[in-house]
Amino acid sequence: MSAQIISGKDIAADIRSELSGEVAKLVAETGVTPGLATVLVGENPASQMYVGMKNKAAAAMGIYSRQITLPIDTSQDELLGVVAGLNADPAIHGILVQLPVPDHIDEGLVIESIDPLKDVDGFHPMSVGRLATDSGEFFAPCTPAGVVEMLVRSGHDPAGKHVVVVGRSNIVGRPLASLLIRKAPGGNATVTVCHSRTPDLGAVTRTADILVVAMGRPEMVTADMVTPGTVVIDVGTNRVDDPDSEKGYRVCGDVLFDEVEKIAGAISPVPGGVGPMTITMLLSNTVKSARLATAR
Ligand code: GUN
Repeated sequence: MSAQIISGKDIAADIRSELSGEVAKLVAETGVTPGLATVLVGENPASQMYVGMKNKAAAAMGIYSRQITLPIDTSQDELLGVVAGLNADPAIHGILVQLPVPDHIDEGLVIESIDPLKDVDGFHPMSVGRLATDSGEFFAPCTPAGVVEMLVRSGHDPAGKHVVVVGRSNIVGRPLASLLIRKAPGGNATVTVCHSRTPDLGAVTRTADILVVAMGRPEMVTADMVTPGTVVIDVGTNRVDDPDSEKGYRVCGDVLFDEVEKIAGAISPVPGGVGPMTITMLLSNTVKSARLATAR
């Protein structure tokens, strides 16, 4: 039997429609329009595409969006100056500096320069620390927050389940593990984190009730690594050469979909899975930030 398809596209559309209502309510009640600023340094085509999609999605739901594009030779001080300006701007509630930044700029320094109250990416050490200690108000990083929403809204609440996360990045694997072990809705899971140095990866992934793969390696998870009935979330977005396609490439995940789909209990596709959820959670964090700002 084929797996249930967990469509991030459909779930994202539901959340965006809820958020549009929230934006309209916030504007009507307080006169405040949520504002998102994205900063892109350089001309990386994938980054340009992602940033463009984020601004378009924000504008489509009534969020004010400002896209700042800086040349690749922008100095670190210039970039820090731009962030300082956005920190001080009352029309902006969320700031996102698209990563990676060019090599001559210290990424950590830039992330730490963002006002934690406007850190809608959830990458600032204060946000990371509050998530890890499950204390205070914080913005959850968008991709892992999107994964949790997908699980809960598709009827696969992680509470009480064994979730195996493959990947230990700061953007996905680590914060996802922190979210899943929280004593809070969307949490209360038992979590194992695997990575590139895990011996016999398949032996671990086969123990999962829910398997989340975020390694950035095209189609690395094959059917023999998945126990029948497992819920599989594929975070990977990879471009692989495909001479049969018009563009010369195709987009695929970290999971060999055609094979795993036949045995999984449920699976998210690529594209149309986690990708639309990431942008949606960014919008959600921006609306949350604006709401919190009006309450201060
Ligand atoms: N680069 C890849 N993913 C992300 C993300 O979620 N936020 C930012 N700022 N940069 C990224």
